[in-house]
Amino acid sequence: AVPVIAIDGPSASGKGTVAARVAEALGYHYLDSGSLYRLVALAAIQADAGDDPAAVAALAEALPAEFVGGRILLSGADVTDAIRSEDCAAMASKVAAIPAVRDALLERQRAYRRAPGLVAEGRDMGSVVFPDAANKFFLTASVTARAERRYKQLMEKGLPANIDSLSEELSLRDARDAARSVAPLMKLPDAILVETSDMSIDEAVRFVTERIA
Ligand code: CDP
Repeated sequence: AVPVIAIDGPSASGKGTVAARVAEALGYHYLDSGSLYRLVALAAIQADAGDDPAAVAALAEALPAEFVGGRILLSGADVTDAIRSEDCAAMASKVAAIPAVRDALLERQRAYRRAPGLVAEGRDMGSVVFPDAANKFFLTASVTARAERRYKQLMEKGLPANIDSLSEELSLRDARDAARSVAPLMKLPDAILVETSDMSIDEAVRFVTERIA
């Protein structure tokens, strides 16, 4: 089977950057599964369908998304930056709790598994999407460290950000991601824990790379 490295963890734990860097180092494909949930969220916001689970599931099923040269398109429109807003993140966590939405995205995610290998990042990569992954990691960091990182990311993109409301939103989103009945965020017994609060990106990348079996 094509090898998969699963990297799961909460928001702003560093998993996105680390996963992309590990994929690059190994010459593997890379799946940012959160971007799919964010795309469904944006489609739901645009259709004003956020409160109708069946309508959101239909949007996820048909999701007209394309990944072209580092840009993300939804129905042909460039939404690369739009899906990074905190509004979209909050809606993503809401639509991600709908079982039919997760089902609709399952095969789409598994299609990323192509030779020579895949680094997949999200909340349920090791538990649901690629339970047979050769290597599983769980990245985490304190809420304070994560809020600071997210604050920097948003500032760099010129998006509005406030450190206190970010901490609060992260905590709320963690609670919702961990408590949902489908694919709850959790550290699997067979995942390696990576506590990144006091690690630089380089250190986290090295920590993970050195532990790939
Ligand atoms: O960038 P950040 O880590 O904050 O979030 P993300 O990875 O883009 O994911 C946004 C939301 O999508 C999360 O809060 C989860 O609720 C959901 N998600 C999920 O349920 N399963 C995944 N595999 C990835 C994301």
